[in-house]
Amino acid sequence: MTTLLEEFGRPLRLAIIGGGPESWIGHMHRGAAEFDGMFKVVAGVFSADPARSRDKGRQLGIAADRAYGNVAELCAAERARSDPIDAVAIMTPNDTHYSASAAALDAGFDVICDKPVTITLAEAQDLARRVQAGNRVFCITHAYAAYAMTRYARAVVQDGTVGRLRLVQVEYIQSGLATKLEDGPQNNRLKWILDPQRSGLALVMSAIGCHAQHLACFAADANVSEVSADTAALLPGREVIDYTSANMRFASGARGTFTVTQAAAGGENDIRLRVYGDKGMLDWNHREAGYIRLAMQGEPVRVVTRGDTFLSPELIALGRTPRGHPEGLREAFANLYREAAEDIIARNLGKPRSIAPYPRIEDGVHTMAFIEACVASSSNNGQWTKVLA
Ligand SMILES: NC(=O)c1ccc[n+]([C@@H]2O[C@H](COP(=O)([O-])OP(=O)(O)OC[C@H]3O[C@@H](n4cnc5c(N)ncnc54)[C@H](O)[C@@H]3O)[C@@H](O)[C@H]2O)c1
Repeated sequence: MTTLLEEFGRPLRLAIIGGGPESWIGHMHRGAAEFDGMFKVVAGVFSADPARSRDKGRQLGIAADRAYGNVAELCAAERARSDPIDAVAIMTPNDTHYSASAAALDAGFDVICDKPVTITLAEAQDLARRVQAGNRVFCITHAYAAYAMTRYARAVVQDGTVGRLRLVQVEYIQSGLATKLEDGPQNNRLKWILDPQRSGLALVMSAIGCHAQHLACFAADANVSEVSADTAALLPGREVIDYTSANMRFASGARGTFTVTQAAAGGENDIRLRVYGDKGMLDWNHREAGYIRLAMQGEPVRVVTRGDTFLSPELIALGRTPRGHPEGLREAFANLYREAAEDIIARNLGKPRSIAPYPRIEDGVHTMAFIEACVASSSNNGQWTKVLA
């Protein structure tokens, strides 16, 4: 059988925006984009400083004429080429996601964007309009929802195995802000993270809360309609929010609880999801991403494993090695890149658009509405507050 990539005849050409050699997430994106041969990284902007951007591009092996000084230059020069990029992947500090995405969409490129998709709900809604008007692909890299086992959770919620959902519990705990980093020396990364204008006032929500909300909604197959939230800076004197807890009411009628913090001293990075229906429950955590526990009322617990042969071909295809071989975040990112690429190629070949559940701009709109509702609720003493999109 001919694959979409074979039919298309070449890998998609990708530009990276952000993600220089010293960045946290750049390696992840560059590796994941090329993991399955669907994309080739050929261009980029790697710093807000034009000279540094060109220098970092060269360090990454990008041709000198395609390591650009800024996004406007990249869009203009690539549009003028006979072999232009097809898409951009954005992993800059949070406050530039919107402008970089809007510029790329307006230039006719598809977008893979890291979270938070924007700083405000209005910006996310504006991007959604541009994506729809241009029939573009817009993928947000919430990779936790791209593991075979979190996809399995959604599948057994959708097929009714665990019954009608009653409760969704999600938590994402880290210790990166457990000490007062504000008082110590600041590198470039800390400077933007600790600046509420650049990271978003509700920092913990931009950093990890958005992942937790997205995963909960993804697995529950429902949006959140109302929240009662408590947001805080747990460390005295801190300007940015490092903790949020919320009670959630889902549109489906399920209830939920949500806890995220980056100020949990000693806490190793972990995201955990539990979903309870009226017949049984699922329990997944990122430390054991290749496994999920399925417990039906009155029955022994089953441990389902990535690659189990009873799983659907779509779920098995999310892994690349036989079960038992550890796979992780890079493979989950690569699943998103593969799905985004397949959607881009399908559209370019005039075939039906992909229905793969990669996070799309509409999910980003809901995330931004959720964040704004949490902040509004907390400033109103935890009053139940509608999530407006
Ligand atoms: N999906 C995930 O799991 C995940 C994990 C970590 C970070 N992120 C997101 O990725 C983004 C980057 O995070 P990071 O931790 O790698 O940050 P970082 O500070 O380590 O790296 C940022 C990179 O962007 C470059 N840059 C800064 N301003 C730029 C501009 N205007 N134009 C082009 N390049 C610019 C910098 O030179 C640097 O290379 C953030 O939005 C963050 O929320 C996502």
